[in-house]
Amino acid sequence: MKKALSLIDKLNQEKALELEEWVFLIEHREEETAETLFALARDIQRRQFGNQIYTRGLIEYTNYCKNNCYYCGIRRDNKAVERYRLTPEEILDCCRRGYALGFRTFVLQGGEDGYDTDERMEEIIRAIKKGYPDCAITLSLGERSYESYLRLRQAGADRYLLRHETAQETHYGMLHPPESSGANRKQCLRNLKEIGYQTGTGFMVGSPGQSPQSLAEDMIFIRELNPHMVGIGPFVPHHETPFAREKGGTVELTLYMLGLLRVMLPKALLPATTALGTIDPKGREKGILAGANVVMPNLSPLGVRNKYELYDNKICTGEEAAECRHCLASRMESIGYKLVVDRGDYKEEN
Ligand code: SAM
Ligand code: FES
Repeated sequence: MKKALSLIDKLNQEKALELEEWVFLIEHREEETAETLFALARDIQRRQFGNQIYTRGLIEYTNYCKNNCYYCGIRRDNKAVERYRLTPEEILDCCRRGYALGFRTFVLQGGEDGYDTDERMEEIIRAIKKGYPDCAITLSLGERSYESYLRLRQAGADRYLLRHETAQETHYGMLHPPESSGANRKQCLRNLKEIGYQTGTGFMVGSPGQSPQSLAEDMIFIRELNPHMVGIGPFVPHHETPFAREKGGTVELTLYMLGLLRVMLPKALLPATTALGTIDPKGREKGILAGANVVMPNLSPLGVRNKYELYDNKICTGEEAAECRHCLASRMESIGYKLVVDRGDYKEEN
């Protein structure tokens, strides 16, 4: 307990720890240590962002995917999924509704869909920027070439989310078929940063094969990359995947990792994820109280929501965007925070 507290203090002072220190902190966590960590994380969060919570409107625009990640409900071998792809008009309609509700960031997320050529994505990005010049566009389209990332950035995309999933090569191999490469994913992240995107990485908590050692490696990788955003949420099994019978991640460990991330990266944008809200009805509120400062409600059309099922029992598949925004606003108010109408950019000077 004493050693864990002194390591948290060291993390706060130096913003970095050695591998063995991370392993110790993760292995020896106790309720009391966690409470001290969350109080510190909230203190940092309040100093950086006040009581303001940023929102991002998530548009799940395609569930076609050429990849076969063992954990993911829209993997290519899941033949039970009805595939869809939104038209540019449907995407713009999501933005129109989202803008009216107060969203100033749109996140275009999808499987790795071979249909998404640079030309098609450039057209969509330009159309959104033309209609909503005061909004930020975040892409989350998986691994692409340096040239492709560059073109999409030049077309107007501001940010990119690509979770590294796990920094440990052997663990990466347990979560993905041999055709996927953890090294390439890391390289993509470096490319995105170099090109000038506000870049987000992240990982699932409690994925099969994860260990205190692999989580420690995640923290060291994140420290090195120094991303603008880190998305973490519990692994939740999906019944049509090879991991259908695996155990899911816990709220407890997810919150602990969020707290550690806030202390390590005071300025980072940290979402309280939908997956966290799925395994605990108060998961997103708890995420904010552990140091998160972003929520990402769904703007996808109701008709496709349940087809973008990455994991079982995903919440908010039956709600209109307006309901989600209002629901989250009152959830945040109940714990003393408020949703703001703001692009919510990463701020160096904070
Ligand atoms: N194709 C893009 C990519 O690979 O980055 C974006 C979409 S992908 C479905 C978005 C994220 O969902 C992944 O990075 C992964 O961490 C998360 N995810 C997938 N399956 C999940 C599961 N069963 N439980 C929790 N999170 C999951
Ligand atoms: Fe969607 Fe609460 S956030 S219903």
